[in-house]
Amino acid sequence: MDALTMKKLAGEFAARYVEPHMLIGIGTGSTAYWFIQALGERVKQGLQIQAVATSKESALLASSFEIPILELNNVDEIMLTVDGADEVDPQLQLIKGGGGALLQEKMVAAASQRLVIVADERKLVQQLGKFPLPVEVIPAGWKHVRRRILDMHCPKVELRGQSQPFITDHGHYILDCYFEHIDDAHALNIRLHQIPGVVETGLFLNMATEAIIARADGSIQIIKRES
Ligand code: 5RP
Repeated sequence: MDALTMKKLAGEFAARYVEPHMLIGIGTGSTAYWFIQALGERVKQGLQIQAVATSKESALLASSFEIPILELNNVDEIMLTVDGADEVDPQLQLIKGGGGALLQEKMVAAASQRLVIVADERKLVQQLGKFPLPVEVIPAGWKHVRRRILDMHCPKVELRGQSQPFITDHGHYILDCYFEHIDDAHALNIRLHQIPGVVETGLFLNMATEAIIARADGSIQIIKRES
C-alpha cells in the first residue's frame, strides 16, 4: 500500500469516531484531509456536528463539505480532535507543524478532551528529531532566535521559505530546526520557550490520547496513551 492510500485509510477510520452532536477539532495536512472528506460525507447524510479548525486551509475544506465551523474563542471544551503528525514516538509524543499550522493546532489540542492522531506507519519513530522541528517565531526577531537555537547544539536551523518566508495563519515565521535526535523533548521545549520571540514549538508533549496508524499491509494499529 502506498503512502497516499495509507493516509486515506487512517483518515477515514478516524471519521468513525465522530458521534452526533459532537464539537470536534479538525486537523491540518494530507492525512487530516481524508478525515475531513469522510466526515463531510457523513454530514451530507445528516450527521449533525460542529467543528473548530486548526488552519484556514482546513476551515475552507470543511466548509466546502458543509461542516459548520466555529471560532476557537467561541467554544468551551472540544470533545475530540483528529489531526496528523510528522513524528510519533512510542509514548505518543509528537512533532507537528510540517504544514505550518502548529500554533492553532496546539491551541485546539489543548482545548480538547481527546487528541487522536492519524498517520501512516512511516511517521512512527523510536526517538523524535529526525524530522526538522518547526518553531513559530515573531518575524521581527527571527535572526536572533535562530542564533540562540544554533547555540543549543542544533546543527542547522532554516527559515521556512528562505527568501520568500512562509507566513503562518497567525502572521509569524517558522524556523525548521534540524536537531537530528531529541534526547529530552520536555527540557528542549522549555528551553525553546524561554527564547524571546518564540511563539510556539512543534513539540506536542502529553497531548495525544490515541494514534490511528495505517500500515503498508492495509491494517490499522491503534496506540493508546498509558494513563
Ligand atoms: C500541519 C501538521 C500536519 O498534521 C503534519 O505535518 C502531518 O501532515 P501530513 O498528514 O500531510 O503528513 O502538523 O501543521
